[in-house]
Amino acid sequence: MNATQTVRFFSGENIPLEMHKVRVVQKLFLPPVEERLEAIRRAGFNTFLLSTREVYLDMLTDSGTNAMSDAQMGAMMQADDAYAGSQSFARMQKAIEDVLGKRHVLPVHQGRAAENIIAQSYVKPGNVVPMNYHFTTTLAHIQVNGGKIVELLCDGALDITSDNPFKGNMDIAKLRAVIAREGQNVPLIRMEASTNLIGGQPFSLANLRQVRQVASEAGIPLVLDASLIGENAFFIKQREDEFKQASIADILLEMCAQADIVYFSSRKVSSSRGGAICTNRGELFDAMKALVPLYEGFLTYGGMSVREIEAMAVGLRETTDEAVIGQSPSFIRYLVERLQAHRIPVVTPAGGLGCHVDAMGFLPHVPQQQYPAGALAAAFYLISGVRGMERGTVSSIRDENGNDVLADAELLRLAFPRRVFTLSQVNYVEDRLHWLHTRRELVGGLRFVEEPAVLRFFMGRLEATSDWPQRLMTAFRADFGDSL
Ligand code: F0G
Repeated sequence: MNATQTVRFFSGENIPLEMHKVRVVQKLFLPPVEERLEAIRRAGFNTFLLSTREVYLDMLTDSGTNAMSDAQMGAMMQADDAYAGSQSFARMQKAIEDVLGKRHVLPVHQGRAAENIIAQSYVKPGNVVPMNYHFTTTLAHIQVNGGKIVELLCDGALDITSDNPFKGNMDIAKLRAVIAREGQNVPLIRMEASTNLIGGQPFSLANLRQVRQVASEAGIPLVLDASLIGENAFFIKQREDEFKQASIADILLEMCAQADIVYFSSRKVSSSRGGAICTNRGELFDAMKALVPLYEGFLTYGGMSVREIEAMAVGLRETTDEAVIGQSPSFIRYLVERLQAHRIPVVTPAGGLGCHVDAMGFLPHVPQQQYPAGALAAAFYLISGVRGMERGTVSSIRDENGNDVLADAELLRLAFPRRVFTLSQVNYVEDRLHWLHTRRELVGGLRFVEEPAVLRFFMGRLEATSDWPQRLMTAFRADFGDSL
């Protein structure tokens, strides 16, 4: 059996086989298309505002929606409830030390809580934080503390189609230039594993080592956002010659060894909930630890339930299993290849986290000011009951003059929670997207009717710029009749 658990069928097709069996199930509903039209209108054309009762496949995110293993569920039953000094925390600490190689651990209730503590501790007004690319919550915390970011992705990283195996790499020459220009004004350098907003694209270990070297020369701490580290390690093993024979455990340790501070959302890595900040440097730990009791909870639970702490400890250990971390990238690749066969524009190479459909390529007639990725997310929900997430200009911000800062890309993200969906469900996604692509000229734009000032994509409400949703539904009914 090969590493990805992908087998060749007699037909010649490569199929990613599930290396697990399903022992607990949750019932799903597929509401008829008329109800879906009502639902998306009620939700202000924002898929965040749908109820899961209205959704067939929830591909909004892989955050907090992953399947747990039997070992995780078992460990949750042995949790040690204690405000202080819980043995569950000791087990989490040991798992972090074994898997990520860091001794000092600050528990937090989720990834952005780690970002809050790191930003409050290190980012001062006027500071500049270089990073491969931002994540929405990271950017918000740096800005709230008066800092700015500079994104230093390698050339071509934002190209939708590419054969660059490591689009998440940082441009080292640009990093040196920023540090030379800003000097003491750079408090941290941040690298994000499986860079989320450009399509779950990994960096190479060679690149991370180069960033480490620059950070050491300049005496600036290197922070690794490890929320999607499992998938990045999987891609390093698949795509980087030096690590073809290495174990995932060794790759994870080598990745974390480059960073002074590692933080993560365990809603993603470890298929549990919560998060942590970890380091081997006592002075960095001491600089941050007072903020944990202030914002999160005592130092041995950090706002997490002890059950989640146990699940995290086991889930982190399972991250060293290639069959566990390879499942979602293998399914994503399967869908990406099938969509490509239908000439549907998708981000390539296939990355971690989800399949990313290029909305500007899919809907070239919808101007970026009318939010093509938001329109595609709403249209796809309408005709399939599948909930994806807009990752484009709706997820961006406005400038000081009130104009939209147009996003680098307009993507519909179809996330793959780890080990949750079956392959026939993935085939359904493919089929409905294929149909929508043949009727793409029916899809129009969106405009805001209620727009929060910060992180507007979560709660903002929009409306269609014409009666296109109604016309799309009529076309669906004409082709599928009474089929939902
Ligand atoms: N960093 C990365 C790379 C993330 O993808 C996320 C969350 C966070 C930090 C924040 O973690 O949600 O636990 O506070 N990403 C989710 C997503 C929300 O849907 O992509 P959190």
